[in-house]
Amino acid sequence: MINDSSFVLRGGIAFSESMHGITTYYRGYLVCVDGICQGAFTELPEKYQGLKLYDYGERLIIPGMTDLHVHAPQYTFRGIGMDLELLEWLSTYTFPEEAKYSDIEYAKKAYSYFSHDLRRCFTTRAVVFATLHNEATIELMNQLEETGVITYVGKVNMDRNGGENLEEKDAATSIQATREWLEQIQGKYVNTKPILTPRFIPTCSDELMKELGKLSAEKELRIQSHLSENHSEIEWVKELVPASTCYANAYEMFDTMGSKELPTIMAHCVHSDEHEMEIIKNHGAYIAHCPTSNMNLTSGVASVRKFLDAGLNVGIGTDVAGGSSMNMLDTMLATLQVSKMYYRLVDQSVKPLTFEEVFYMATAGGGKYFGKVGTFKPGYDFDAVVIDDSKMYSMRDMSIRERIERMCYNDADAIIKDKFVKGKRVYTAVD
Ligand code: GUN
Ligand code: FE
Repeated sequence: MINDSSFVLRGGIAFSESMHGITTYYRGYLVCVDGICQGAFTELPEKYQGLKLYDYGERLIIPGMTDLHVHAPQYTFRGIGMDLELLEWLSTYTFPEEAKYSDIEYAKKAYSYFSHDLRRCFTTRAVVFATLHNEATIELMNQLEETGVITYVGKVNMDRNGGENLEEKDAATSIQATREWLEQIQGKYVNTKPILTPRFIPTCSDELMKELGKLSAEKELRIQSHLSENHSEIEWVKELVPASTCYANAYEMFDTMGSKELPTIMAHCVHSDEHEMEIIKNHGAYIAHCPTSNMNLTSGVASVRKFLDAGLNVGIGTDVAGGSSMNMLDTMLATLQVSKMYYRLVDQSVKPLTFEEVFYMATAGGGKYFGKVGTFKPGYDFDAVVIDDSKMYSMRDMSIRERIERMCYNDADAIIKDKFVKGKRVYTAVD
């Protein structure tokens, strides 16, 4: 039966079937039935010939991207204060900015800018930090639900070291607020799910961390946080949790590293060593690699090649406003570039990432966190972005693979025409 979420798209199709290759179809057919991808084809199989066909001609069709780590309240001050390193940047710019979200009118306006732009970018799935304020977090969730983008959103927990305007009184207050938030949003959304969000160990007391670990088990909720981003931060965690063998072990001590069923996302892992990688692996946690942020805040370069070789789950995060753009293409490019510099300047036994690997991480790698998401294999959710790159003039014939690579290295003239999430068109450009 033909309905709104069953159709065929025709165009230049590209997607990952594994980390090592990009499958392409020139003027191929991509079939969606009830929001689920049925696969890509050179010739349209007879059984789909009754479906409505949208012919995009020479345009490109790629899977939607997953932004595994982004701070919504930091969007409107992105690109400011970037001469500072993490801890100074947080206390000088970030915490005072987030404190303003106690004002619901401020939050409404600022979050409308974030939601507006999220709908228009390559991202079809995102895992989002809000602030510690319940009312503003619910406002963000209301707005995100309207975008059609599928998200996890966290009310942030922090009961120490946030400064006087961005701190919950104690662990009990923070947990109580979290329970109230969860009650208020229960059953309210289709596309917007809650995720527990201890900001990081320095802003969460032992008691708060333990209680969040228990709450995660009780309510079967996932957790997101930050791990091993910056040297001063790591030293501080050692002082705050002296019994821990490493930063990841501190999270582990509080039962917040998650499990394969409820995987935790850890942003950064710039300075994670073999021991920390083993803990991440044992818990089935996801690493959100955030290279633009790691450069901006002078944090360092994560050895993603080592993570991939060790079989860890790795996706890409923009980490706005540590990262200054929500554009996943920019973040893919930075992923490639920092891996090349890591190889050249740090360790020549660690080969640079390939374009295939980075395309995979941005689509299927991060998408896996959401289930069957991020590729056009049959059975996957139909998340797709249609791109017009015709203004990127060229004097040569190019393969689809080359056009995708070129778009990543220079995205300025790659225009998003349409965006689909689970078979629903959530954005279309006005010509
Ligand atoms: N660690 C704790 N909070 C933050 C944040 O807001 N941004 C980044 N990049 N790291 C953090
Ligand atoms: Fe972050």
